[in-house]
Amino acid sequence: EIRELVSSMVGGYLPTMDEMEFLLSLDWEGAQVLLEGARKVKEELFGPEVHIRGIIEFSSHCSGRCLYCGLRADNRDLARYRMEEEEIVRCAEEAIGAGYMSLVLQSGEDGWYDRWTLGRVIERIKGIKDVAITLSIGERSYEDYRYLRQAGADRFLMKHETADQGLYDRLHPHSSFRRRLECLTQLKELGYQVGSGFMVGLPGQTLRSIARDVLLLKKLDVDMAGIGPFVPHPRTPLGDQPAGDPFLVLKTVALARLLLRRPHLPATTALGVLDRRMRDWAFHGGANVVMQKLEPHRYRRLYDIYPKGVGEERSIAEEREELERALESMGLRVARDRGDAVRV
Ligand code: 5AD
Repeated sequence: EIRELVSSMVGGYLPTMDEMEFLLSLDWEGAQVLLEGARKVKEELFGPEVHIRGIIEFSSHCSGRCLYCGLRADNRDLARYRMEEEEIVRCAEEAIGAGYMSLVLQSGEDGWYDRWTLGRVIERIKGIKDVAITLSIGERSYEDYRYLRQAGADRFLMKHETADQGLYDRLHPHSSFRRRLECLTQLKELGYQVGSGFMVGLPGQTLRSIARDVLLLKKLDVDMAGIGPFVPHPRTPLGDQPAGDPFLVLKTVALARLLLRRPHLPATTALGVLDRRMRDWAFHGGANVVMQKLEPHRYRRLYDIYPKGVGEERSIAEEREELERALESMGLRVARDRGDAVRV
């Protein structure tokens, strides 16, 4: 029964809600069929190629109050940092030298960087080389989004976090689900390649709700989708809730690959933090992207979205080489291009 369902999905069949819930509740043995199906779809589209994206987390200041996030404005126990324009550009330059063709500029929702400042950063990086630039800076005005697109930004990441509107609105007292979707629509309209995504294991979330998350990604027709576990952060209101289940994340990524097909799907950093082996499995179950932090380690420690380890400090080039070796030892091939959205 599992086999039939998965193979019809490989052929393009859109499952019912009940069938999706069934797939998400499979045990390890049953899930192998799901993972194989997802892998097949991934390999038809991308072969053994994976993309490494470099991410510069340039500011940990945030005016948001997301109940799950350690960067929330209410967390006063965290030393905050902002990288200067010059420092961001130098970091990007080093990354480009190390072979990065795709850079993500991410921060908390930090109005200190106005559109002109960010625009200059983008233009300066583009002046070094035409790498893909992805912004992940949260909710901003339409004017900001328009200006930054004009300045050369290619892509934008903004997760919908959960498709359950009631849950979304409880988790985000400073904003709303409607506003989130409005931003995503504007970004698409402006011609960004758009990434969204969600967390698995949020308190109050059900399997049905996760199925809806995947369907919302389909409706948004996203170019990229980050699916990661909720990881409790002690200095937040959700600090004593259990973490999301890494195995459920793995199944969700596979389901997303089968249903959505074309988007770039990272094996998320948060998944790797909870269970490194599950992150590696994700590459055999539909994922084709991995992110590598680029900013200096003294900042990484302070970019405290959720608890994580920060390894020993090495150069950007050395860290990339190590990651490439790890990926190649899993039978993957590291892509040398920007990894733009694929249209099928
Ligand atoms: N656990 C997992 N992911 C989190 N994020 C924020 N806080 C957490 C957490 N506690 C994710 C959100 C956000 C991204 C930048 O980080 O999905 O979109």
